[in-house]
Amino acid sequence: MERKYIVKGQKPLKGEIEVSGAKNAVLPAISATLLAPGIYKLKKVPKVRDVFCMLKILKHLGADFNFEKDELKINTQNINNVSVPYELASQIRASVLFLGSLVSAFGEAEVPLPGGCKIGKRPIDFHEKGLTLMGADIKLKHGNLIVKSNKLKGCEIVLDFPSVTATENLMMAATLAEGETVIKNAAKEPEVVFLGKMLKKMGADIKGCGEDTIYIRGKKKLKPVNIEIIPDRIEAGTYLVLGALLEENEVVVKNVKKEYLETPLLKLQEIGITIKEIDKRSILVKRKGILNPCKIITAPYPGFPTDLQPIFAVLLTQAQGLSFITENLFENRFLYVYELNRMGANIKVEDRTAIITGPTPLAGSPVKATDLRAGAALFLAGLCADNTTTIYNVELIERGYENIIEKLSKLGADIKIEVI
Ligand code: EPZ
Repeated sequence: MERKYIVKGQKPLKGEIEVSGAKNAVLPAISATLLAPGIYKLKKVPKVRDVFCMLKILKHLGADFNFEKDELKINTQNINNVSVPYELASQIRASVLFLGSLVSAFGEAEVPLPGGCKIGKRPIDFHEKGLTLMGADIKLKHGNLIVKSNKLKGCEIVLDFPSVTATENLMMAATLAEGETVIKNAAKEPEVVFLGKMLKKMGADIKGCGEDTIYIRGKKKLKPVNIEIIPDRIEAGTYLVLGALLEENEVVVKNVKKEYLETPLLKLQEIGITIKEIDKRSILVKRKGILNPCKIITAPYPGFPTDLQPIFAVLLTQAQGLSFITENLFENRFLYVYELNRMGANIKVEDRTAIITGPTPLAGSPVKATDLRAGAALFLAGLCADNTTTIYNVELIERGYENIIEKLSKLGADIKIEVI
């Protein structure tokens, strides 16, 4: 059933908000459970749509799973299928992550070629090129990638761009391949490092995660593990900006790994937001007086994360002067701008740069989420706009923000859910 959020604006938010486990760390971890048959326990797993979708695919392959509170138990002892169904794969791009583990552990995989999404074409040529270099035979048949290999062979792979899921796919493929695989120009995101930690715990011989080059020496077999998921840095960044939106807000964001958020935290300070560490993993954000405009240029980690640029754009509509956001990862990640402008923002998009003139009061309006982070941005805009904002396509927000209504209501937000 389709639902909409009715958000009452300008209510001061006070209290603590806890960050859940990282969706983009859980998704590759779910695929990695195919590398060794057995029982896995993943702690701090966020119950969000993307995770349930990946788990439905895993179940379709023959696995079993169940949640006990925030602990996810997965059993991959009876995998009997290597074909990912279109109706599930088409809902989530991360389904491409099943390629590496399936072909490495079972010698074959059939995965629908993921559609592009609103933010860009999002091809998977780096994934295909790397697996082909490792000796896999890849064919496209009726929209599905059919990947076959008796035994993947380790080799040197240079990624044209440090792609997160391409790095993760090739890491998983290499863990059971013959010989050594070297992945150059690898992604360094914390979620990639987390996958490396999980694979190492499973017995993989893997070095260099978090650096430009990752070295993996294939093993004959791996073993199942229990592991705790890292906190979600994008959810944390979203709630830090939330706390910065209104001067009356007093928000403490808990379960934050500051080392994952260096550039966003520096940007918040540049904008004039006070960042106060309450303890090792809790941060109080405080807005005092006018906000400074700034320049944001998105880049692979540890640069400014593309997933937070829509969120920061909302804050920058309240800054005094001209701000610039240049998006270097995805060619179409400014769709949220047109919705913000309908609320009264003054943002122009020229090629890959959004030029924001602030401050502009935001007026509560009916708006539509175009992708996960755009939806989160519109949510934040509604919380700092006057009157009421109605958000449509809210299932996109629920893909990556666990219990967002409960969490924000606890801070004093006035949000109602209505069935359309
Ligand atoms: C991951 O997507 C994240 N998703 C994205 O988060 C995130 O925005 C992105 O990394 C960048 O940080 C998951 O981890 C599940 P890329 P991914 O491959 O791996 C091009 C969210 O909101 N490219 O690093 O798909 C691609 O077109 C999502 O949680 C190729 O050309 O991103 C893009 O321009 C949104 N060929 C650039 O690389 C390829 O084979 C970076 O993409 C692969 C990528």
